[in-house]
Amino acid sequence: MKVTVVGAGAVGASCAEYIAMKDFASEVVILDIKEGFAEGKAMDLMQTASLNGFDTNIVGTTGDYSKTAGSDVAVITSGIPRKPGMTREELIGINAGIVKMVSESLIAQSPEIIIIVVSNPMDTMTYLTHKATGLPKNRIIGMGGALDSARFKYRLAEALGAPISDVDGMVIGGHSDKGMVPLTRMATRNSVRVSEFLSEERLEQVAADTKVGGATLTGLLGTSAWYAPGAAVSELVKAIALDSKKIFPCSALLEGEYGLNDLCIGVPVVLGKNGIEKIVEIELDAAEKAKLTESAEGVKKTNGLLN
Ligand code: LAC
Repeated sequence: MKVTVVGAGAVGASCAEYIAMKDFASEVVILDIKEGFAEGKAMDLMQTASLNGFDTNIVGTTGDYSKTAGSDVAVITSGIPRKPGMTREELIGINAGIVKMVSESLIAQSPEIIIIVVSNPMDTMTYLTHKATGLPKNRIIGMGGALDSARFKYRLAEALGAPISDVDGMVIGGHSDKGMVPLTRMATRNSVRVSEFLSEERLEQVAADTKVGGATLTGLLGTSAWYAPGAAVSELVKAIALDSKKIFPCSALLEGEYGLNDLCIGVPVVLGKNGIEKIVEIELDAAEKAKLTESAEGVKKTNGLLN
């Protein structure tokens, strides 16, 4: 499997690093517009190969898309990250132009490519990629829910005083501070519902902390986070590479699923060699449905800013 990561910033470099560390890809190409930057990151990462025990070949390029030819999967991380106090939505003007140009350049080199969009506002950038490229909907995946779910599990484990490996949970909806819908009712500790262990108030706190997971880190770091976003991307790419049919919440183009149409938003999907192989429609209760509908309205409002 050949993977291209566009953007050699902290998120892109972490994606490349985790993909290489998991050792399922033959080649990772990192592309950036800043002269020499991707080449430098690639060389530094390659010098970890003998230490970390991977055989993935990592190559860097300054803007030469021909190096990406024949990629199976591309990850788009390019664009500006948010600064403290900014919402993901405020990035739209600059990032829309970048994501459109990048996705078109990728497809010109690799017509069969599967694109994973990370740039923010992610759900809208995923929708824009659909509109700009016309690729089949299984081949455009927005990365948000896998990251938000990892943050949810971190907060659940913290509240439970349990190891994270004991915890399962999922966040659907838009990848925004207001739009995330952590499914607390369905979260489990080793197959027991977490409501058996935690009060409703504590669970509400877990959900609230999850929703501002990215903003909390932006406040601490002065820019957006990279380790967990990179790790989440690497798991999506791995599921595609290994055709594993694992379920992750991802931003997918909806055409009637969950009663929603003509937008990309986080819902559970099955990932395999064809990208999104199935959108899984789970039974939501009235409150969860209302939250997802409200989240979809928010995403549509941001999509409206594209015009
Ligand atoms: C975050 C960015 C990647 O949530 O959206 O950290």
